[in-house]
Amino acid sequence: MNRLGLLILITAIPFDFVAQTPTFHEDVAPIIFGQCSSCHHEGALAPMNLITYNEVAMYGSYIVEVIQSGDMPPWISDHNYTHFRGERFLTESEKQVLVDWVDGGKLEGDLASNPGVPYFPTGSVIGIPDLVLSMVEPFEHSDDYEDQYQIFLIPTGVTETTYVTAIEVIPNNMAIAHHSIIRYTHDPAVIAEAQALDAATPEPGYPGFGGFGVSIDEGFSGWVPGSPPTEYPEGMGKIIEPGSYLLVQMHYGPSTSVHSDQTSINIFTTDIPFTRELSTATMSPYNFSEPFYIPANQIVDFHAIIDIPIDLTILSVTPHMHLLGKSWLVYATSANNEDTIPIISIPEWDFDWQGKFTFTSPMHVPAGYKIHAIGEYDNTVDNPNNPNSPPQWLTWGEATTDEMFVVFLEYTVYQPGDENLTYTNYSVTDGCTYSAAVNYNPEAITDDGSCVFDECDLQSEFDIGFNTGYDLGFAAAQAAAGCPGDFDGDLMITTLDLLDFLTLYGTQCE
Ligand code: HEC
Repeated sequence: MNRLGLLILITAIPFDFVAQTPTFHEDVAPIIFGQCSSCHHEGALAPMNLITYNEVAMYGSYIVEVIQSGDMPPWISDHNYTHFRGERFLTESEKQVLVDWVDGGKLEGDLASNPGVPYFPTGSVIGIPDLVLSMVEPFEHSDDYEDQYQIFLIPTGVTETTYVTAIEVIPNNMAIAHHSIIRYTHDPAVIAEAQALDAATPEPGYPGFGGFGVSIDEGFSGWVPGSPPTEYPEGMGKIIEPGSYLLVQMHYGPSTSVHSDQTSINIFTTDIPFTRELSTATMSPYNFSEPFYIPANQIVDFHAIIDIPIDLTILSVTPHMHLLGKSWLVYATSANNEDTIPIISIPEWDFDWQGKFTFTSPMHVPAGYKIHAIGEYDNTVDNPNNPNSPPQWLTWGEATTDEMFVVFLEYTVYQPGDENLTYTNYSVTDGCTYSAAVNYNPEAITDDGSCVFDECDLQSEFDIGFNTGYDLGFAAAQAAAGCPGDFDGDLMITTLDLLDFLTLYGTQCE
């Protein structure tokens, strides 16, 4: 090789290397912001923030470990089996970017290519609720570093039949709120029983780990950090009656300081009564023939089957088991066994990340089909969550040392076209949120910087023409347009100008 060849070779290597090594701002930040920061930011549940270069770089190889093990982002259902609203996972190429970034020395790159920290709403993401049902009193969660499962009774207080189109859980203290399961009842006997349990303990609500202490099967909603609100396609929903109650089970995570929480539930209603109320079907040990008995030192599974007598539309599935839980597989089969409809696969059950899984579009299960649910339990010493050491035989019950086998299916009678129904009616609307702006959008939840304010004479845009306007430079453009607040010189006063103003003249708080 001649000298020139050698020179080209050595200069070519680093060039290539630089071009392919991902940088934080350009390649890593979009992945972290999209998949991690919703839980990893100030005031959210996760133990540390993942927002800035330093924060993410500090955890570099640890991040690679948790994404490769599948621990983060937390999502227990197999996205290759069925799809649910709000599902979180990293694609293989996204994982590779993070691996290459860490291997390549965690380069920071150019701040200008950072997509910008996303907006994390603390209140509703879907609008102004018609009814807010809050825990009656705040609950104090102690600093003993123990998990706490507490059930709170919330009277719905409605005076007439109320048609619910969406339900949104707003935890008040994200530092401790880990998940919640909500049931509904208007049965006076069940309400009285729950009230008696509440009255028997001095603190608000009453403790309950795996069940509610009363026979309440009507599912209402559920929440884990990052899960989207429960919304129903048009013409369907939940009905709440006068005199009814919600039973809200909150799981508070271990904490070394005392925390208080008063979670609330936003209810969205419609005045147009719907006829398609959703019901909950429950699969339990009643749907298999052997006793629900889990011997010590064994891995066992139970296979429940229910017959579907009429065409159904299924909206969501909520599997529930306790600490011996290992996996779930739920699917439907046709009478001749030739067709299988996948419902949910949870290859590695995690009690902390259980939830209500809503299909991205409703699922049609035809009459004559059977629904199968296979729940697997690991009652050996290899299960790190085994509540007993050495392992003991377990059966049905509500305590941490008991087990459960339940699958809730939210359904209604099928109507043609159900599988095409969408959830767009409540999605977040971007737009101008400033009421003083000419283009104020009362529907908008997230401000997209498009507000236009009246003070600026928009006519001057046309007098000068867009192109020349931009070329004038912003001082000249302001003068020309008679528009002194127009900091970016686009001849309009928009939210972006307010932000520019703050950058130029605002004082940054410590
Ligand atoms: C839905 C909320 C949520 C999302 C999304 C999320 N995390 Fe986490 N993360 C947590 C919680 C909560 C913990 C604390 C441990 C636990 O409870 O599992 C945690 C712990 C971690 C830890 C261990 C920290 C420690 O000190 O033990 C790392 C590293 C981590 N997350 C990285 C990530 C990365 C990378 C992503 C995105 C790919 C991500 N997380 C997405 C909630 C989340």
